Amino acid sequence: MIKKVGVVGLGQMGGGITQVTAQAGFSVLANDATEEFIAKGIRNITKQLDKAVEKGKLDAAGKEKVLGNIKTTTELADFKDCDIVIEAVTENMAAKKEIFAELDKICKPETIFASNTSSLPIGDLAAVTKRRDKFLGLHFFNPVPVMKLVEVVKQLDTSDETFNAAFSFAQAVGKNPVKAKDSPGFIVNVLLIPYLLDAIRQYENGLASREDIDSGMMLGCGHPMGPLTLTDFIGLDTTLYIADIFFEEFKDGHYAAPPLLRRMVNAGYLGKKSGRGFYDYSK
Ligand code: CAA
Repeated sequence: MIKKVGVVGLGQMGGGITQVTAQAGFSVLANDATEEFIAKGIRNITKQLDKAVEKGKLDAAGKEKVLGNIKTTTELADFKDCDIVIEAVTENMAAKKEIFAELDKICKPETIFASNTSSLPIGDLAAVTKRRDKFLGLHFFNPVPVMKLVEVVKQLDTSDETFNAAFSFAQAVGKNPVKAKDSPGFIVNVLLIPYLLDAIRQYENGLASREDIDSGMMLGCGHPMGPLTLTDFIGLDTTLYIADIFFEEFKDGHYAAPPLLRRMVNAGYLGKKSGRGFYDYSK
């Protein structure tokens, strides 16, 4: 039975996971490397809750209750009695392995370990622990409070008991979980990323303006964002990183990053977060 949830990383994804978990009434312990990162993460969550209060979706007491469900720490040692720990730090295999190896020594034997990675093999992360049967992927989507999907990823050794507990947990935080294999990009990214790369390739080839490519897919297919806006939203660096992992795994040109994407990332155009991507967000 999952009652106490640990979240490692209070960035965009970890903050969103912390928020929805606390809103669902779980007790959450959220961690980041410094007090400064933690304060920023909590500020972002508070801002989201304030908006919900403004819209009348939450009252002031409800907001305080959600914030009261969140405790924070800079020490992984405090995760010892969590029932599940969800890791949501940046997509760096070495950093994630280090965190899981340390948590494996700290946490009680029953604690389930989940990674929110969008592109790294879950089995490779599980291999640094002695609890491979209690290890799986829980991949949320951005913005976490809005997107309904969670991919629940079973690696070779994940037990049915662990899978079912994590699947029920995803439902309990208000999401629609789907079962995915530990294959590159799981279900969504293996379909989404090549589409985004194709849109960038077409833009680079001069098919149409960026606005018309985006309008085409929004108005013609009912997508909430066009592909170039969505790439800005996800982050050009993240998109490139995932594309490179896919190309390395599949050795198929369909997954190869277009030169323009790499040039833009190298020039610091990372999308919305850096103020400039395919569009200018500086104002
Ligand atoms: N956090 C929390 N809530 C947010 C939010 C955020 N960052 N951004 C928007 N919202 C909420 C708004 O408050 C609003 O809520 P209400 O309906 O309660 O008023 C609702 O979402 C709609 O927002 P807006 O009216 O401001 O704007 P919108 O209608 O354009 O929607 C959007 C914004 C939800 C982001 C929408 O454009 C969308 O769905 N875009 C596609 C997002 C997407 O594809 N995400 C997946 C990315 S891929 C990924 O995450 C996987 C990976 O590994 C790379």
